[in-house]
Formats: sequence, C-alpha cells, structure tokens
Amino acid sequence: MKVTIQDLTKKFPGRGRKAAEEVTAVNHFNVEIPDGKLVGLLGPSGCGKSTVLNLMCGLLKPTEGRIFFGDEDVTNLEPEKREVGMVFQNYALYPHLTVLQNILFPLQNRKGPERLTKAEMREKAEEAARLVQIDGLLDRKPGELSGGQQQRVAIARALVKMPRILLMDEPLSNLDARLRLQTREEIRRIQRETGITTIFVTHDQEEAMSISDVIIVMKDGEIQQIGKPQEVYDAPRNLFVAKFLGTPPINTFSGSVRGGKLFIGENAVLEQKGIPDQDVTVGIRPEGFLPSPQGALVCGLDRVEVMGRDVSVVCTHPACQNPVIRAIVSAESQTDPDAAEVRFDLKPNKVFLFHNKTEERIL
Ligand SMILES: Nc1ncnc2c1ncn2[C@@H]1O[C@H](COP(=O)(O)OP(=O)(O)OP(=O)(O)O)[C@@H](O)[C@H]1O
Ligand SMILES: [Mg+2]
Repeated sequence: MKVTIQDLTKKFPGRGRKAAEEVTAVNHFNVEIPDGKLVGLLGPSGCGKSTVLNLMCGLLKPTEGRIFFGDEDVTNLEPEKREVGMVFQNYALYPHLTVLQNILFPLQNRKGPERLTKAEMREKAEEAARLVQIDGLLDRKPGELSGGQQQRVAIARALVKMPRILLMDEPLSNLDARLRLQTREEIRRIQRETGITTIFVTHDQEEAMSISDVIIVMKDGEIQQIGKPQEVYDAPRNLFVAKFLGTPPINTFSGSVRGGKLFIGENAVLEQKGIPDQDVTVGIRPEGFLPSPQGALVCGLDRVEVMGRDVSVVCTHPACQNPVIRAIVSAESQTDPDAAEVRFDLKPNKVFLFHNKTEERIL
C-alpha cells in the first residue's frame, strides 16, 4: 500500500510554566512512500520520529496536514479502522497472557463479517508466529522469554491482522548487539516475504542504512533528506545529514576556497573550480584519504589502529574541528606507525563543502 503524507504538522501545547510555548514535534512533513518498501525513519532523540508513527496509526491527530493510504484519506479515520500493525518502542506485551494469547489479541473483538472463529484465529496466530520463528513458544508467558523472543512476539502481534502498513518504533532498542544484528536481518526478511509497506524508526544510522530501501533523515521535526541509503550517504544535502550518516563519522575541517583551490589550513588540497572565494566547512569521509608521500594534506600522526583488511589512521590537523581525524585506509598502504607525520591525497567524491552560515552543501 502506497502512503502519502502531505504537510503533516503536530504541535503539542506547553505545560505549566511553559504553557505559552508550543512544541512543534513534526513540522510540514511531506513524503510519498511507494508500495512494498521498507523505509527507515532516522534522527536523533526527540526529533519527532515516534510522533510521525503515532500520527500514521491514528493514536494522535495532526494539527495540520493529511495522510493517505493508497487513495484513501485516513487523516480522521479511527485507529482500529486503519489496518495498521504497530510495534511500539517498548514491546508492550500483556504479561499475564501467553504468547499465543498476545498474538491473538488484535483478532478478538472483531464484529460482523470480520469476526473469526476460534480455529481461524488460531491458524492466523500460528502463521504469524511461524513467520517470526517463535511457533515453539506459544504457551509461554512474556516473562519466560528472552528480549529477542519478546520482540518477535510483538512483531507477530503486529502482523497477525496482515496490516496494510507496518510501523515499527525502535523495535531493536532493547536487544544486545548480536541479537540486534540478527533481528534486523529478520525484519528485512519478513518485510520481503509479506511485501507490507513498512516504516522502521531508529536513531541508529547503521541499522537504518543496512535494511532500508529508502531512508528519511529528520531533525527538529523536519525532514532533512529522503533517498536511497547510498545516495544520501554519497550526496548529503547539509552538514547535519553528512555528520549523522557514517561510522566512523565524517571528519570536518575549517577551510576556504581561494582562486579555484580548496585550502585546509595552509594546505591546498583540491582543485575547486567554479566556486567563489569564501570560508567553508569541509567534510571528508574516513575512506576519502589516500596516504601518499607527496600528499597535499599534512597531518600529525597519532597512532595506527589495525582492523584487519583496513587500518584506521588516527591523526591531527590544526584546521580539523574534531579532536582527531580518523582515516580508514587499506592495510597495504603501510603507514609507518612511528612516523611523526602522515600525508594524504583526497578522493574528490568523498570531500563535501558546506556553507559556513547555512550548513547547506555547496554544489
Ligand atoms: N504528548 C506530548 N506532549 C508534549 N510534547 C510531546 C509529547 N510527545 C512528544 N512530545 C515532544 O515532541 C518532540 C518529539 O518527540 P518524539 O517522541 O516524537 O521524538 P523521537 O524522535 O521519537 O525521540 P526518541 O528517539 O527519543 O524516541 C519532543 O520534543 C517531545 O518532548
Ligand atoms: Mg521515539
């Protein structure tokens, strides 16, 4: 099911002494999500991710704007009628019910022609449980499950109605690193198998990049950029997006363009024809550095960390805005860990320039 969000805005009234100050949690949010895609909604804590999901599932009413599922305007539709599956930030399982009863729950209380027999409900619940591979645990209570298993129960419960849209709010936040990795692969598999349009919220950029068809990067209630993960990584629209995506993060420098050349400190590092002279912020991805004896960027060498195939060259430069620069280079480049200095050439497609004032990328 295609989802269209038009100019969606949600303001919360202030409270107590701040009663006059409204909080704009979501600000003129516009997006069109094609049918069957997995979309990663990504941004720092408090940027409005959960609010967007709650507006989509109908738990919140927007201050402005419209939401369409396919051609149907669902903006004022009751949550029960939206046919949305939601996995909440805390899984919110019923502790006194078994796994089976938890999964069945959304199917009960259906009325009229929608009503299912006990056997039909059980069949659907078992199918959902199989999909998330917990069919052996149906008689347990949530307290008797691991975090990862509880997570799957929550997903099964969201899937049991075969929703039109699946919304997941940080579904992996309570899992350890390995289980997180495994469960995110599984979410991808389940999404592919069911073809349900899915919106997956996370503040973990790596998680979002690895499983999403499309990512939406948010900040302060506003969309910063929408695109395929690789496209957004390779062509960030502004400094915030550039910094938010990538591990290790992008290295930033104070620089300037003078006479068609990009300077970092006094090092003329790249040709930069067609850009008027100005001070700029320079972002260089960790993989954008090529060690070279005659390299233009001259850095003080701090240490070399071995990672196997690659090494991380940790170094400094007076114009760098971070405490250290992290350059990821091939182990074959054989950087001498005892040298005082390391010089780099830069890969032009890994170097981004940003306006100092607006922080927009200079193209
Ligand atoms: N019911 C509410 N009343 C007032 N303000 C709210 C309410 N719900 C959320 N907010 C505010 O709206 C903003 C967005 O909150 P939201 O929960 O959507 O953020 P989030 O991106 O999901 O963050 P996190 O990653 O921490 O879950 C925050 O500033 C939050 O304090
Ligand atoms: Mg949230």
